[in-house]
Amino acid sequence: MNRIVVGAQWGDEGKAKITDLLAQDADLIIRYQGGCNAGHTVVADGKTYKFHLIPSGILYKNKTCFIGAGTVILPEAFEAEVNELIKEKIDVSGLKISPLASVTMPWHTEVDGFSENNTSKGKIGTTKKGIGPTYTDKAARIGIKVQDLFDEETLSEKLDVILPLKNKTLEKVYGLKTYTKEEVMALCKKYAQIFKPYVAFDWQEILESLKDKKILFEGAQGVMLDVDYGTYPYVTSSNPIGGGACTGSGFGPKSVDEVIGVAKAYVTRVGEGPFVTELTDETGDKIRKIGHEFGVTTGRPRRCGWFDAVTMRYSALVGGLTSVALTKADVFDTFEKIKVCTAYKDKRNGEIYKNYPTNVYIHKYLEPVYEVHDGWKEDITGIREYDMLPENCKKYLKRIEELINVPISIISVGPDREQTIIRKA
Ligand code: GDP
Ligand code: IMO
Ligand code: MG
Repeated sequence: MNRIVVGAQWGDEGKAKITDLLAQDADLIIRYQGGCNAGHTVVADGKTYKFHLIPSGILYKNKTCFIGAGTVILPEAFEAEVNELIKEKIDVSGLKISPLASVTMPWHTEVDGFSENNTSKGKIGTTKKGIGPTYTDKAARIGIKVQDLFDEETLSEKLDVILPLKNKTLEKVYGLKTYTKEEVMALCKKYAQIFKPYVAFDWQEILESLKDKKILFEGAQGVMLDVDYGTYPYVTSSNPIGGGACTGSGFGPKSVDEVIGVAKAYVTRVGEGPFVTELTDETGDKIRKIGHEFGVTTGRPRRCGWFDAVTMRYSALVGGLTSVALTKADVFDTFEKIKVCTAYKDKRNGEIYKNYPTNVYIHKYLEPVYEVHDGWKEDITGIREYDMLPENCKKYLKRIEELINVPISIISVGPDREQTIIRKA
């Protein structure tokens, strides 16, 4: 069974927890897009691990953990993450990087930082890890790939094209420092040393040999942050949706059996952009406090709000979800009432939207239409069987399934690997 794990909201849904859980049965765990903008938390045997680029399956021995061609890699961040794992005595011998992955160069992080610090109106609230500028250069065909670092002649030829262009833009548009070719060649030499033990130049053989094995595609970010389908322009610069798994990994669509969308029992978002069910009151604060909703990568407080079935239905559609893993239901254990947004209402004319309006510039005119559910007022963190869940919790889950028209196959009731209910089909 080959599965894709997709974030079904705006990221931080608990994808890493679900990936770690499913990785037990997988031979290959592959990250297909994004970079160290991701912050993934796994809690296993009471210990917390945080990943950014490295697939969350790395905690198991004898698995191949692949960083795919669709990713962007910030060398220093990769090095720090690997070193941290080695320090923790975690076996990284199964870790591989695609030679086709893109390298985030210093000018990418500098431009990302500059754009974020200098645009108050068009601010995206990025993680400042250079993600957007790296993907921009990849699409503009002036990017550097991991494989280029290992071929001095190619690199030199490439830099003769890239650097004059880059320097002009850095200096004239951004007023940032420029780079000499010697400087960049030396930097790339250093990067090559960092990547060397992990680069899979034999990746075609590796993928070929794993074709009939069990593959787990690990998503980062979430459908609503997808550059084509998300709340553009308040998105990341890659394709976190299920479809992105194929382009980002090198496996064809026929290799996929299931697409599991991970969603919280509520919604969070970091950074700017529309969020119709956002709670800026004490209920939002309560969710943030109980759910520990602070970014893994940037430490920023996450914006919190009620479950939004409108975006979730959309996400199920474009994300290609075959089932949902619902996380953090336990955060509601003490809540008297829980709201679910079933539609949006346009404050200007009363128009009701059941489908997600893709022009996000009108979202400021939209308000959520809620239905209210009774809470279950019971600690569910120790429950491991669906039937043992309180009736009101089951009602809540059933209603979500009805609204999004996708079955909930996994219910997570706490951060630990063990705190999971796998629902029998
Ligand atoms: P990811 O980026 O989607 O992997 O998610 P993050 O790691 O950024 O954020 C999810 C957070 O919720 C982490 O701190 C997890 O340990 C935690 N978490 C995951 N599932 C659950 C759950 O069911 N209940 C609770 N209380 N915490 C959870
Ligand atoms: P995981 O994998 C939550 C958000 C940023 C910003 C926007 C663009 O942990 O779910 P970028 O740095 O990608 O150019 O920022 O996307 N963002 C995330 N939000 N979780 C993530 O990853 C995110 N990765 C990027 O906050 O709004
Ligand atoms: Mg995260």
